[in-house]
Amino acid sequence: MILITGSSGQLGSYLVESIPNSIGLDRKESQYTKIIWDIRKEIDSALRDYEIDTIIHAAAQVSVLKSVEDPKIDAENNIIGTINLLEYARKHDVKYFIYISSAAVYGEPRYLPIDEAHLTAPKSPYGLSKLTGERYALLYHELYGLKVASVRPFNIFSPRQDPNSPYSGVISIFVDRAKKGEPLIIYGDGEQTRDFVNVEDVVQLIKLLQKDKPTGIYNCGTEKETSINELAKIIKNISGKDLEIVHLPPREGDIRRSYASIEKARSIGYKPTTNLKRDIERYFFTRNKKGGV
Ligand code: UD1
Repeated sequence: MILITGSSGQLGSYLVESIPNSIGLDRKESQYTKIIWDIRKEIDSALRDYEIDTIIHAAAQVSVLKSVEDPKIDAENNIIGTINLLEYARKHDVKYFIYISSAAVYGEPRYLPIDEAHLTAPKSPYGLSKLTGERYALLYHELYGLKVASVRPFNIFSPRQDPNSPYSGVISIFVDRAKKGEPLIIYGDGEQTRDFVNVEDVVQLIKLLQKDKPTGIYNCGTEKETSINELAKIIKNISGKDLEIVHLPPREGDIRRSYASIEKARSIGYKPTTNLKRDIERYFFTRNKKGGV
């Protein structure tokens, strides 16, 4: 059986939906979660009734802002929580561990596209805690032979990101404002770029990993960069409204350009399907907003 942690979250919920023989664990209730459990506590008793051979660890404190406000809670979830799962894996002879890391581990890009060999110099407690969790997982490979893959997603988007959360991504925020006819707010000149990847491509890569079970680190993106100005234009056009675009001072610590090298993921068969305009339309502006995988 495949354990998916973070099953009430954006990525975890899609994983439960699309991976057969999987079971979801999360602290929060949802239709995708079978086991309600806080990973900051040891995990054995929660999994007593199950035989787990693979763990996909997507549960995390995901907000950069929150990690700055409360680095201890961030570390408890992302570091201690990961250690609890790794300890479970070690004791119960789990065969494969997929760790969901983040592009935040790279910090300010030194060159583009960013490949997996790029220096890791996180700029937030969140980036550091995700990197530490990843290092622990890889250490369990060294020490105990646990097969471990770490996925570093760039900017994931899906209709399951809550636009009302102050920690939400730019796509959900712009779409929400567009629907309400509110101005789109761009921090800085809008020429900063990101590699936006739809959640289905992240699921695709994870399924490919599950098949071959390699050990290593894999970026997950599209190898394309889109500026925030372009993104605002796309969403304004789709909405069909005469939305105002307002520029505010840049966000402190904002990265200028970012996009992934995905050569390594390609080597195991990954082919990104993300098409920003089409996906934003079908995820957010069609009647069926499920955006199912
Ligand atoms: C994202 C992730 C973060 C991850 C990081 C890795 C989200 C919410 N955040 O941060 O978890 O660690 O990638 O590199 O997915 N912007 C606007 N107007 C808005 C909102 C945002 O102009 O209303 C701009 C931001 O200033 C930024 C860009 O859009 O330049 C993207 O912002 P955001 O979606 O918050 O993601 P990242 O900052 O890239």
